[in-house]
Amino acid sequence: FQPKVLAGRRVLITAGPTFEAIDPVRGITNLSSGKMGYAVARAAREAGADVVLVSGPTTLPTPHGVRRENVQSAQQMHDAVMAAVGGQHVFIGVAAVADWRVTNASEQKMKKHDGGAPQLEFAQNADILASVAATTSISGWPYCVGFAAESENLLEFGAIKREKKGIPLLVGNIGPQTFGQDDNTVILFDESGHTVLPRADKLTLARQLISEIAKRIDQRSFL
Ligand code: C5P
Repeated sequence: FQPKVLAGRRVLITAGPTFEAIDPVRGITNLSSGKMGYAVARAAREAGADVVLVSGPTTLPTPHGVRRENVQSAQQMHDAVMAAVGGQHVFIGVAAVADWRVTNASEQKMKKHDGGAPQLEFAQNADILASVAATTSISGWPYCVGFAAESENLLEFGAIKREKKGIPLLVGNIGPQTFGQDDNTVILFDESGHTVLPRADKLTLARQLISEIAKRIDQRSFL
């Protein structure tokens, strides 16, 4: 049984990888399985929230009671999030968003000829989390939560990343080896320091994270 700590709250979550097309059948993606983001969506729903999940390509079933919008590219994810963000109380960016997109993707399937290789060109994608965080200065909402996978110096980089992104709460994953796995160890960074959530399955961690978020937004509501 999960207490309804987010009853009446609206929560927007991104999850999964993005897929950046090279041509109609090829693209660049990453090893994010979406498991953590889907666990967070499930935990938020269990806690009574109205949950919208903007998801890159995954093979996971939609958690019960969650509204899901499927996207492929980082740009589509950005546009879907910006269209849905008005009126949200919490935004949790769990997706592994591609940092770059291919600007010279081919409209037709690329052909092999003369042994030559295609020359791909890239442009940087917008940072969805930072874009949402930049909108919070007006109303104070949504409460923004980011994720970070660092392979070294997580304690130092986590604190720096939270400040750089301009968000109140950052969840640090221990290493890229967590991709696709069912267990995780995470560290929560906020303005007063850090808290370790010991190794557990992703749903257990997601439920703990949701209760930590609920505590923090309840405190803010009384300010
Ligand atoms: O900067 P870095 O990619 O390590 O930050 C990770 C956090 O930022 C995650 O919460 C991720 O969902 C979010 N992010 C984003 N848009 C991007 C890149 C990262 O929302 N283009």
